[in-house]
Order: sequence, then structure tokens, then C-alpha cells
Amino acid sequence: MKVMVINGPNLNLLGIREKNIYGQRDYKDIIRYIKEEADKLNLEVDCRQSNIEGEIINFIHEAYFNKFDGIVINPGAYTHYSYAILDALKSVEIPAIEVHISNVHKREEFRHKSVTAAGCVGQIVGLGEYGYVLALNALKNLGYGIEG
Ligand code: DQA
Repeated sequence: MKVMVINGPNLNLLGIREKNIYGQRDYKDIIRYIKEEADKLNLEVDCRQSNIEGEIINFIHEAYFNKFDGIVINPGAYTHYSYAILDALKSVEIPAIEVHISNVHKREEFRHKSVTAAGCVGQIVGLGEYGYVLALNALKNLGYGIEG
């Protein structure tokens, strides 16, 4: 079963950006970790990253046309204002889980609101890169059509 893992803007700078908030591990290392954990769950993962809103929307469309069974998405700052990403998630109706590495609720007011979460089955925040693995487990175990 196939899951697309989508990371949005500035997440390619993990390990460089605000390490006190996002941790020391770099993007490549986190992707390696996600792939290892996906293997253990017997899930196929396709990991994408873009700093461009339209590309993220195209990834979501691709997930639909290529019959992905689930999406794990960290839309970065687009979370807080991208109605276009929300619409894309709603359009494809693929079960999606939103992940935030940091606890957005402890941070600036503008990060407290997610417009994209309404297009997802659930949201995981504040648990670091482990959040991506929890999201894979949730897709697999919560009966969203993924048998593993
Ligand atoms: C983030 C939280 C967002 O507010 C921020 O803009 C990011 C990362 C997180 O993973 O904690 O880029 O999505």
C-alpha cells in the first residue's frame, strides 16, 4: 500500500533552521528514518518536498491519479493560510494526516490555526519527526483502507 509523504516550505532546511524548535536532524536523515519505519510497517512511501504551493497541490493530484492510499502532509507555513491546499486535499478524498514537528499551540498566535487540517482525517503536533511515523501507523491501523 502506498503513502505519499509531503513536506512543504522550509522543511528541506531541517537541521539548519531554528534547531531549538525543529531539532538537529536534517531533512535527509528524517526521510531515511521515515522510510525505515515505513518498511517495518510494510508500507511503500514516496517522500516529496516543495517550497512552492502549486507543486504541493500537484503532488496531491498525482497521489490521486497514481492511486495512493494515504497522504501524510506537513504543509509548513501554508498550513495557516492555504485554502488551495485545503481544496486539493478535499478534492482527492485520500485519507490524509497532517503533521507538525513543533507544538504549534505553544508558539505564535498565527500558528494556532490550521486551515488545511479540515481536509485531513487527523492531526499530530509537537512530537518531532516521530509524528510522521505515528501518522503512518494511524493510516495503517485506523481502517483508512490501508492493509500494509
Ligand atoms: C511546522 C509549523 C509551521 O507553523 C511552520 O511554518 C513550519 C513547520 C512544523 O512542522 O512544526 O514550517 O509545520
